[in-house]
Amino acid sequence: MRRLDQLLSNLGYCSRREARGWINQEMVKIKGVLARDADQRCNESDVTVEDQPLDNPDGLLLILNKPLGHVCSHDIGEGARVYDLLPERWQRRNPIVTSVGRLDQDTTGLILLTDQSMLVHKLTSPKHKVPKVYRATLDKEVNEAERNAMVILFASGNLLLSGETEPCLKAELKWLTGTAAELTIIEGRYHQVRRMFASQGYTVTALHRTRFGSLELGELALGTWRLLPLNQSFT
Ligand code: URA
Repeated sequence: MRRLDQLLSNLGYCSRREARGWINQEMVKIKGVLARDADQRCNESDVTVEDQPLDNPDGLLLILNKPLGHVCSHDIGEGARVYDLLPERWQRRNPIVTSVGRLDQDTTGLILLTDQSMLVHKLTSPKHKVPKVYRATLDKEVNEAERNAMVILFASGNLLLSGETEPCLKAELKWLTGTAAELTIIEGRYHQVRRMFASQGYTVTALHRTRFGSLELGELALGTWRLLPLNQSFT
């Protein structure tokens, strides 16, 4: 049971002060009966605002196809944020909606957003080793011998990135063309995919994430999102 004004404010409906106004204006009901006080205790599922049930009161988990140029940071000084693509009310929720790991500003594709901090910890923990699949486009053609050598090196678990002391975990590289490849990694180091190709003398000119664990982006258009069940499986 939670205080009514706190519940409405945490779900991004209004401030706690505004909640009192909404109650006085008879906009809020509990179990179909007009709410009386802001400090009334209630269950999320019993509350309606203008006769509508509350918006995802148990939490949010969504898959977003991140467009170019958006950042996963919450800092408004860093430019357009992935959170700006969500309904405004969700942007006012507490706990806040945050990304599960990050994609670079110049990377597109699958990113999970949630207000479930336990899920963020679980899915980003090195212990969990969730496979993430990226499609990378390179700045120049890689010849066949080099392509094969790169497959072996990336799979070896011996690739040491500059400035690091631990080699990358084994990664699976599949070439799609002479300049495009699909790379599956089970960790998430800073700029990892770009740095793996940079270590071999290639610049990634486009990077797109297509899969996170068992979850695929599918037909979701760039810049759009879809709600997932809170108990979504990723294995
Ligand atoms: N690796 C990168 O280099 N960038 C990303 O955004 C994700 C993985």
